[in-house]
Amino acid sequence: MKCFYIIASLIFVNCSTNTVNYDQKLENIPFIPLPQVIESSNLFLSVSELSSIQTEIKSERIEAALKDFTNFWEQQTSNEIVINPNLNNSLKSIHLDLDYNSETSKEFYQLEINEKGIIIKSNTEEGLYRGLTTLKQVVIFSSKTNNIKRLATGTINDFTNYEYRGAMLDVARHFFDIDDVKRYIDILSLYKFNFLHLHLTDDQGWRIEIKKWPQLTVIGGAKEVGGTDGGFFTQTEYKELVNYAHEKFITIIPEIDVPGHTNAALASYAELNCNGISPNIYTGIEVGFSSLCAQKKVTYKFLEDVVDEISLLTKGPYFHVGGDESYVTSDEDFIQIIDSVFSYVQKNNKTPITWDNNVKTGEINQLWNEGSDFMAIKKSKKIIYSPASKTYLDMKYDSLSKYGLSWAGYSSVRNAYEWDPKILSTKLNLNEIEILGIEAPVWTETVSSFDELSYLVFPRLLGHSEVGWTSKDLRKWEDYNQRLKKHKIHLKSINIESPY
Ligand code: ACM
Repeated sequence: MKCFYIIASLIFVNCSTNTVNYDQKLENIPFIPLPQVIESSNLFLSVSELSSIQTEIKSERIEAALKDFTNFWEQQTSNEIVINPNLNNSLKSIHLDLDYNSETSKEFYQLEINEKGIIIKSNTEEGLYRGLTTLKQVVIFSSKTNNIKRLATGTINDFTNYEYRGAMLDVARHFFDIDDVKRYIDILSLYKFNFLHLHLTDDQGWRIEIKKWPQLTVIGGAKEVGGTDGGFFTQTEYKELVNYAHEKFITIIPEIDVPGHTNAALASYAELNCNGISPNIYTGIEVGFSSLCAQKKVTYKFLEDVVDEISLLTKGPYFHVGGDESYVTSDEDFIQIIDSVFSYVQKNNKTPITWDNNVKTGEINQLWNEGSDFMAIKKSKKIIYSPASKTYLDMKYDSLSKYGLSWAGYSSVRNAYEWDPKILSTKLNLNEIEILGIEAPVWTETVSSFDELSYLVFPRLLGHSEVGWTSKDLRKWEDYNQRLKKHKIHLKSINIESPY
């Protein structure tokens, strides 16, 4: 009998060296966002057998992505991997091919892991990059045998549900420096976000250098909510962020919020005020009390300079001009200012985005206020969905949350995951407007460090990644919640604690 067990266990050990256990099948990797189609082929590939990445693509972005991937690989597997060495063909490789003839979305990719190696195919660089992030998750969540990670084999065919998957970071209420923003970008890229909207100005702070208006950052950037020292990005730093994000296939969208939310600018330059007197700098958290002056010529010179300088530094096609909560601006003044800003943005070949408001919205409108007048929204051509009750990451999880606000209600991890932009648009009767995608903003009135920010953002941000990417019929809360548990362990390994 004893002998039987020994023989049986030897057979088991032997088989387990070339077939995977149930929990190591490709379809059981806890991907977030969940890919659209996963087919397991039930073998495995040991990471130690892979020695190179092979590609003929000549592109700075792909080169940067591969450099990042080799660092990641070495950290995760303790094995070196080399890009495009002169190959002895018998060695196994990761191949990146750009000539895949697919008709689906530009972020479509196919990732195939087989016993001979790994192939990622797409007809765009974006698609290849999304495939690399999926491969990263395979590596992160594969278990080790004899201290070597074994990757389950199979094929993933994947594409995005929405072309716009954004996150917004408010660096105005509390300033977050370039290292914090880069850290945020790193995490966004692993979860297939493709836009980072930076809320650069508000009543409490002006956070980007404008060469023609230097007092904006000297006075307007000096403080933050609560009166602590603020800060700002120099133009060189902002450009560095734009490039850093670009290499991770994330587009930065700058926001200059006008005509309200402008106390920091008004405090910096007396001539921008209708009465010619600068208000004090503001370090509270109320909204809706400030406005640029529509009757002064200098207002338009100021706005044009700001839009021109920031547009020159920005690679992406969008410029967010705010437009929310301008409660002390008359409708007539609002239209005059916002129309002028639209024209400066368009002159710079960018498309303006507005927050929804009841007066005038841009070609792209970001819907946040579920109580809005939807007649105004209906004038926009495209919608980005950020309904506050679902996507605002600064809403408290529940009454016990350490940070956050609750004016749009509490938002549990499940609440942030279980929503469907389509259902919302049907309810609001917005069917005729194209939904570009969704965005999860985090406003920073109550958080002032990366750890505090993380408390609000993680894990809810991951739910929005899946709402943006994965088809509705594949999204199931119970299944997601199991996968999320594994991601929280990964986040902890990079020093991010998720409270819920
Ligand atoms: C906003 O929450 N005021 C856009």
